[in-house]
Amino acid sequence: MASQAKPDLTRAAPAHGARHVAIIMDGNGRWAKKRLLPRIAGHRAGVEAVRRVARAAQEMGLECLTLYAFSSENWKRPASEVADLMGLLRRFIQADLDEFHANGVRLRVIGHYQALEPSLVELIESAMARTAGNSGPVIAIALNYGAQDEMVRAAQRIAQKVARGELAVQDIGVADIDSELDTSDLPPLDLMIRTSGEQRLSNFMLWQAAYAELYFTDMLWPDFDGRALAAALDAFRLRDRRFGGL
Ligand code: FPP
Repeated sequence: MASQAKPDLTRAAPAHGARHVAIIMDGNGRWAKKRLLPRIAGHRAGVEAVRRVARAAQEMGLECLTLYAFSSENWKRPASEVADLMGLLRRFIQADLDEFHANGVRLRVIGHYQALEPSLVELIESAMARTAGNSGPVIAIALNYGAQDEMVRAAQRIAQKVARGELAVQDIGVADIDSELDTSDLPPLDLMIRTSGEQRLSNFMLWQAAYAELYFTDMLWPDFDGRALAAALDAFRLRDRRFGGL
């Protein structure tokens, strides 16, 4: 596992005020269908959108961009589509790592990625290790990720601490759970975006979204770009966040 440096918080806060944005990238299949193309063409166009939006996120001063690339439920898709998605992810890391590293980006993967194919696990771990010392923004990719699974894994680690006598049951608090989640070293989530008109969280960052603002757009993911991210951040800037207060 890569060492987990904290993001650099010394940069001036950008005007939109968001530190961490997460995106449910939805609509690749519909984008392809509209063009009478195979679904893989939609996923390929989705990778191009990932590149555009990752660059825009860096320019807009985000500390962290988390992208839902493969959920723990996506294994239900046909094996050929799963293989296509894994191939695209592998090629994305291989092709874009140098640029991320040169820009000081820290690449992170969240989710139970250790269950993926061994050579992909190796690639992910070496990419994380190579960029772990960077002080620029974090691009986090959620792979084999499900929020319920993440919470189960956190609960298991906490139970092990209790069993070892390191933690008393009555002392378990929010911070103990926070620190066992895959996102423990990432800034708090400010904004969750979902493309393609669906309005649900689909098991993505359920704990972290407790006070995040939600933003839904009809745009299909392959059409998303820096302007669309800027529009979401504009909407975020106008939200009145009270965190349960007045
Ligand atoms: C949802 O569209 C998208 C996915 C399940 C995969 C997202 C993957 C990518 C954008 C490409 C790889 C990612 C990276 C980070 C390189 P859908 O297939 O469910 O679309 P539909 O609902 O229109 O069928």
